[in-house]
Amino acid sequence: MKKSSLFFVLLCLFQLSKAVARKHKNGFESHGITTVTSFGAVGDGKIDDTQAFLNAWEAVCKGGSKGNTKLLVPSGKTFMIKPLTFAGPCKSSSISFLIRGNLVAPCYTWDVGRYPIWIRFDSINGLVVTGGGTIDGCGPVWWNIVPDRPTAMHFNNCNGLRLSKLRHLNSPRNHISLSCSEDIKVSDLNINAHFKSPNTDGIDISNCRGVDIRHSNISTGDDCIAINSGSSYINISDIFCGPGHGISIGSLGENGRFATVEEVIVKNCTLTNTDNGVRIKTYENGSGYARKISFDNINMVASKNPIIIDQNYHDTGTDGYVGFEESLDKSCHLSPAYQIQSSSNGRGVKVSNVRYSRIRGSSASDKAITLNCDAELGCADIMMDHVKIVSATSGRNLIASCNNAHGVFNDTLFFVKQKKDSLVCIPLVIRH
Ligand SMILES: *[C@@H]1O[C@H](CO)[C@@H](O)[C@H](O)[C@H]1NC(C)=O
Ligand SMILES: *[C@@H]1O[C@H](CO)[C@@H](O)[C@H](O)[C@H]1NC(C)=O
Ligand SMILES: *[C@@H]1O[C@H](CO)[C@@H](O)[C@H](O)[C@H]1NC(C)=O
Ligand SMILES: *[C@@H]1O[C@H](CO)[C@@H](O)[C@H](O)[C@H]1NC(C)=O
Ligand SMILES: *[C@@H]1O[C@H](CO)[C@@H](O)[C@H](O)[C@H]1NC(C)=O
Repeated sequence: MKKSSLFFVLLCLFQLSKAVARKHKNGFESHGITTVTSFGAVGDGKIDDTQAFLNAWEAVCKGGSKGNTKLLVPSGKTFMIKPLTFAGPCKSSSISFLIRGNLVAPCYTWDVGRYPIWIRFDSINGLVVTGGGTIDGCGPVWWNIVPDRPTAMHFNNCNGLRLSKLRHLNSPRNHISLSCSEDIKVSDLNINAHFKSPNTDGIDISNCRGVDIRHSNISTGDDCIAINSGSSYINISDIFCGPGHGISIGSLGENGRFATVEEVIVKNCTLTNTDNGVRIKTYENGSGYARKISFDNINMVASKNPIIIDQNYHDTGTDGYVGFEESLDKSCHLSPAYQIQSSSNGRGVKVSNVRYSRIRGSSASDKAITLNCDAELGCADIMMDHVKIVSATSGRNLIASCNNAHGVFNDTLFFVKQKKDSLVCIPLVIRH
């Protein structure tokens, strides 16, 4: 063989191998990225792409050791997917789900059955979900019409989850639920639903340890962020919340349940036109505790109840319903309730060591502070430092009410006085 023809053969082989690498028979593409369209997803917003997504997931999750650890939802397309589960465990210790395009739920209601979830991620360690795309739950077809509505995205048992740079729209119920997981980082999300849409929490946390949520905008018809039982070491910072119901701990202790939340830091947040600002809400018949909680550097813009603790909550309406995510606690190794069997009809959930510092801004109601603590249990070790809230309406009075709250205050405008270790609130006129 002449030297030149040998060169030609080698060149052909080289080109051929490149082509094979670019598009493998069963849909793998170069650089370890698997695109859902190569598994038959169409992306016209109408055709059911569920099976294509599941097949692509299976290839990435089970074939991850071949280096195909990234699943791509390409931009410029809208994929309609029905309720589905992306299940682990996967071969690789890290899987990326890159959502650059749009995902939409079917725009009709379905029977939610055992798992009221649209997109479910289960038992996947090292999962990264990001990409700048949009996730649209088509909520309006459910709101105020169907009582049992699904959560749009649920991550259960996903340790090391990283969720960022996505737009979440119009979930039928919670937009994002996190349960039974450790070491989660969430950032740069935009979550949006109509302020009258029912139970459309932005992010709901239960039975998680070590969660950092930051730099996100959340406006919905319910809590921007809700921290439920079994949660600890939760940091929330740099959130624009509102409209919505604010940032909540609880409800804790529904139906006499044992509930715990501790080590929570909420920092650098702005709450605008929210029904509540920062709230702790526990049921009178529950047991357990909410403790070591700090709210620092929070700006209220016309929030209706800027600071509120309600230790005697007894709403028996839809709020009394134990969320599906929380009801999973019996099977969660991270849940304290897993070890301590819940005793029904406790005497209340203990609230202690709560610090409010640098809380400022305006209230849209006549209330600035409401600490409604149980007569027997009380709230202990409450600290108010640099709390300055005025009425959103010029010249209007604000009220603070404190029942059975014990602690100290420092440089807190007008309402709070101290009598021994009890905080005594006095209604006082503040004009501005
Ligand atoms: C949130 O909104 C603000 C102002 O409206 C904007 O500057 C910021 O980029 C938004 N953040 C995200 C994560 O989209
Ligand atoms: C929360 O913030 C504290 C104080 O800055 C830090 O020590 C801790 O590691 C953070 N936790 C998480 C889960 O990010
Ligand atoms: C909070 O804001 C201050 C400045 O306003 C900044 O120095 C600090 O890093 C921020 N902290 C977080 C956790 O966002
Ligand atoms: C709390 O427990 C008491 C005693 O069992 C019961 O009478 C009451 O109805 C319960 N309240 C709620 C709100 O569940
Ligand atoms: C109380 O406020 C003063 C004045 O702003 C500040 O110097 C001090 O550190 C605060 N004390 C506590 C215990 O936070």
